[in-house]
Amino acid sequence: MDIRIFKTEQEIGEAAGKIYVDYINENPSCVLGFATGATPVPTYTYMAQQCKAGKVSFKDVKTFNLDEYCDLPKEHKNSFYMFMYDNLFSKVDLKPENIDFLDGNTDPVAESARYAKSIEDKGGIDIQLLGIGRNGHIAFNEPADEFSDEAYKIKLTESTIEANSIYFDDVPMPRYAMTMGIGSIMKARKIIFIATGKAKAQAVHDMIKGEVTPRCPASILQQHPDVTVFLDEDAASLL
Ligand code: GLP
Repeated sequence: MDIRIFKTEQEIGEAAGKIYVDYINENPSCVLGFATGATPVPTYTYMAQQCKAGKVSFKDVKTFNLDEYCDLPKEHKNSFYMFMYDNLFSKVDLKPENIDFLDGNTDPVAESARYAKSIEDKGGIDIQLLGIGRNGHIAFNEPADEFSDEAYKIKLTESTIEANSIYFDDVPMPRYAMTMGIGSIMKARKIIFIATGKAKAQAVHDMIKGEVTPRCPASILQQHPDVTVFLDEDAASLL
């Protein structure tokens, strides 16, 4: 893993965002996998600024996202789709037909097969962005007895519900989500991983220094050939 440590979230956003901008300029019809959460927001802000400044165009880029809540309308303000719309999709020149998202309100088995085929049809994901949960989850792959493969429906853990429920003020936070599986994430050609803040320090330690185990789903990244890790000093404090 290529580990890079920065002082501020903004510096990370710029450094990670620059990798995307350069990549898109060299590969205008690339396939990008995006992530939600507070952590990647500065990266999306940087990409949006660069697009607005005419330094990059997303007009032929195709995107996928890691996960989506179940039992929550796509248009609800807390859906991951709306998060992406607010933070990136509405601010760049992506074409709506080039944006694919897991549907949390349909048959999970059929949806998993549809998503896997859609990713394959577009040639696979070139760069997958990842954050991490406090318990070591990536996407919504919670600690488990074995590593998952393709997308599936998961029951969220109490730790995840506690962390994410701060965003829900009008409806209860969903208890289930559709998530890309570990197998699909590992197929991405390149992974950009970002973690910031003390609350992530233990998970980051276990991911990089711990044994590879589905009890810490992020630890599987030790086996990926191309992972760039962006950390602030707090997230790196136990390394
Ligand atoms: C979520 C997402 C993950 C994300 C993680 C951390 O629930 N499913 O993709 O990496 O939580 O989020 P945050 O960046 O807000 O800490």
